[in-house]
Amino acid sequence: MTGFVVRRLLIDLDAPFERHWCGRDAFRTALFNALSMSFPVGEQFFIDSVRRGLESLDPQRRQAFEPDAGGFIGQEATHRRVHALFNAQLERQGLVNDWAPRAAARLKLLEGADPRHWLAITAANEHFTAILAEWLLRNDDVFVGTEPRLRTMWLWHSAEESEHRSTAFELYRALGGDHAWRIRWFRRVTTIFVGDTVRQTVANLRRDGTLWRWRTWRGAAGFLFGRRGLVRQTFAPWRAYFRRDFHPDQLRSDLSSQWLRENAAAWSVAGGPATASSAISATR
Ligand SMILES: [Fe+2]
Ligand SMILES: [Fe+2]
Repeated sequence: MTGFVVRRLLIDLDAPFERHWCGRDAFRTALFNALSMSFPVGEQFFIDSVRRGLESLDPQRRQAFEPDAGGFIGQEATHRRVHALFNAQLERQGLVNDWAPRAAARLKLLEGADPRHWLAITAANEHFTAILAEWLLRNDDVFVGTEPRLRTMWLWHSAEESEHRSTAFELYRALGGDHAWRIRWFRRVTTIFVGDTVRQTVANLRRDGTLWRWRTWRGAAGFLFGRRGLVRQTFAPWRAYFRRDFHPDQLRSDLSSQWLRENAAAWSVAGGPATASSAISATR
């Protein structure tokens, strides 16, 4: 394991952005806003899962996992900070985050549970973020007409999600996590994630005043089920998780490294594998 670079994104999120920032499309904007609302709570849980998993390993294996775990924690901590700034703008626009408190209450029930449960939940969520990330990197024209800084934010997050897609999965396996529980949690996470995404997207559209517009749902149908639609193109990779011999790296493409290479001016290096242990302790 070689670890991941932790990047600092060089964009300004203090300036407000337009309400329908995603290509002036109400549905796409509401959906991405919903996802962003879930990130700070969710990503803190992923960080805690990986840290707990790491602490449960014997010292020798812990050392081997430390670079990747440190990179994972550093990247997710940066995502949390950036999306908190983005979410603060959404709040100023009058949107209300109902997802975060619901998720926080649910995660409270897991206190004291075996770290493998936490990691199975994290690995399942990481599969969702990785397939969504890969889809965004492949279909970046969804951001046509979007402010460059926001487009950069989403594609940078996507590139890093794709990059660290295997960390939680491998820790789960290193701790003896089995196939049956991996699948059980994946089913539950699918139901919860899809349910929460729909609820928050609809709530965002309602508060935005665009829920009952024909144009909103015509846009949604094309975006989700069109030829290059999100649901249509992510169904097969979603299903791949059920395979007994599944590993997240099987779905890896070079889109992530390509984006990072071509957009090197958008970020600076905040830390690398060498700073893994400081990332592990800094986000406590
Ligand atoms: Fe993330
Ligand atoms: Fe992640």
